[in-house]
Amino acid sequence: MKTPKFLLPVATAGVLALTLSACGGGGGTTSSGGGDAAQGLDGRGPITYVQGKDNSNVIRPLIEKWNAAHPNEKVTFKEQTDNADQQHDDLVQHFQAKDANYDVASVDVVWTAEFAAKGWLQPLKDKMALDTSAMLKPTVEAASYKGTLYAVPESSDGGILYYRKDLVPTAPKTWAEMMSMCSIATANNMGCYAGQFKKYEGLTVNASEAINSAGGAVLDKDGKPSLNTPEAKAGLENLTKAYAGGQIPKEGITFQEEESRQAFQDGKLLFLRNWPYVYNLATTEGSSKVKDVLGMAALPGLTGPGSSSLGGHSAAVSVYSKNKATALDFLKFLTTEETQKFFATQGSLAPVLGKLYDDKDLVAKLPYLPVLKTSIENAVPRPVTPFYPAVTKAIQENAYSAIKGEKTAETALSDMQKSIESASAGQ
Ligand code: GLC
Repeated sequence: MKTPKFLLPVATAGVLALTLSACGGGGGTTSSGGGDAAQGLDGRGPITYVQGKDNSNVIRPLIEKWNAAHPNEKVTFKEQTDNADQQHDDLVQHFQAKDANYDVASVDVVWTAEFAAKGWLQPLKDKMALDTSAMLKPTVEAASYKGTLYAVPESSDGGILYYRKDLVPTAPKTWAEMMSMCSIATANNMGCYAGQFKKYEGLTVNASEAINSAGGAVLDKDGKPSLNTPEAKAGLENLTKAYAGGQIPKEGITFQEEESRQAFQDGKLLFLRNWPYVYNLATTEGSSKVKDVLGMAALPGLTGPGSSSLGGHSAAVSVYSKNKATALDFLKFLTTEETQKFFATQGSLAPVLGKLYDDKDLVAKLPYLPVLKTSIENAVPRPVTPFYPAVTKAIQENAYSAIKGEKTAETALSDMQKSIESASAGQ
């Protein structure tokens, strides 16, 4: 087997983040600052902001506020679907077409390397420089590629275990403990656990968390895929066994974030793995059955808390934008303390400004902030590579087959390993 040449380790805040990085990119202008990146730097005027579905209802009010203050530089919101893979493909199509109307795009942390290597994102340096010193380190790293900042962290994300405080006195710390509590779910005629198990990015997140939380790793400390291990097998088997045994309800295989949130809010689940945005909707939506009984804890692990996949989004300026001066101001607006507080209080999104996690007023309103900060600081990045689409496909497809019982966990992991190796070979 040819060993991929470009797998390099990179250290991040407190954890060893493992990085796949390519020697060559997709061929576009990268950090050189020439070509399209040299155009439109002083341009001011209307721009478009592109983002996935605004589940938390924070973007429209924010843009209204911006527009009221900037009548000649109005922002139009282009809302994509709520599926991360579709958002990715939409951005790729518009960047490939050099669309000047996708001025600012919300970029999932796992797409930075690919988009930057292809030369689609404006390097945020020189005239376009931004101060990120007050931001959580993992969020800045996730917005950078090969040492250059390509986007500004907008909201972070860490996995949370939501549970029913009325039925479970103390949150389980380990997966085994959680499974042992499934009898409570049965007694209450509800499903026990769900995350996001549909075949899309969310499954890559959940499968990686299962593997990492059981002591395994998708990549080893040298950045090489390391899925043929007893720990990775035990982690994936936690999901396959729970699905076969009914602890994960059958419909769980169709769940993205929103379907799983809905099931939990409808009282159909005892435990839910999801992102922080759920807190706001679950405690404010009229139909929510969990309003007063919502517990939040760290994801369960092997002998104590498990590890989340690092999630989140950064805002990037397209190299094809003609109004980059306006776009840069809009990026700054997205990251002011006021905006970040608004995202947190209105949408329970995870702030990127470190100090907000210790802000007494904010913690009084959002008591889960310390749990969230720990989740983010200890989160494991998904592989960082310009070839991420092939890597996530390898994880999603094999994890999906294993959960459905079409492959053993061992075969699925060995196939995952081979596909990730071949996605990175020959570079
Ligand atoms: C959330 C996370 C993002 C992740 C996606 C998967 O939006 O912030 O990083 O890729 O969920 O569905």
